[in-house]
Amino acid sequence: MIQFDKNTDSSDQTILLAKSLSSKFKPGGIYGFIGDLASGKTTFIKGLLSGLDFVGMVNSPTFTLINEYDAKHKVIHIDCYREKNISRWIQLGLYDYFNPNNIVLIEWPEIIESILPKNVQYIKFENIDTDKRRIRSL
Ligand SMILES: Nc1ncnc2c1ncn2[C@@H]1O[C@H](COP(=O)(O)OP(=O)(O)OP(=O)(O)O)[C@@H](O)[C@H]1O
Ligand SMILES: [Mg+2]
Repeated sequence: MIQFDKNTDSSDQTILLAKSLSSKFKPGGIYGFIGDLASGKTTFIKGLLSGLDFVGMVNSPTFTLINEYDAKHKVIHIDCYREKNISRWIQLGLYDYFNPNNIVLIEWPEIIESILPKNVQYIKFENIDTDKRRIRSL
């Protein structure tokens, strides 16, 4: 279980927050990132990857849908926003990614909630102000 509730005032702060929490994200874990557009989900995931020793570009999988990274552990970054068709996610092999080797990070998980396991840990992002975000575990 990851437990925290923080406010950040810049994207750099969000990156630092994620870095500081990165060791709590474990292989076999599935993490859902809930929050409005531009609330910092992808930014946080960039920080996580940095904390997990991944050096290189991290892009939002908005169009690619799924990105894989060889970091300290294997990290799977999924963004459901542009694909609301559940059977398409099953076709893409979503279930195969849920295995003990992978840290699975899912933006907009509510779209595929009906096919997610019960043990997903959710993290919520809220836009408080232009640069202020509240980020917390649920
Ligand atoms: N405190 C903050 N934390 C994170 N991002 C911030 C913060 N303040 C401003 N920003 C800006 O907000 C945007 C966050 O974008 P990001 O792609 O991380 O959001 P997202 O939640 O993944 O959005 P989407 O739902 O479209 O994928 C960036 O432009 C970033 O610079
Ligand atoms: Mg995003």
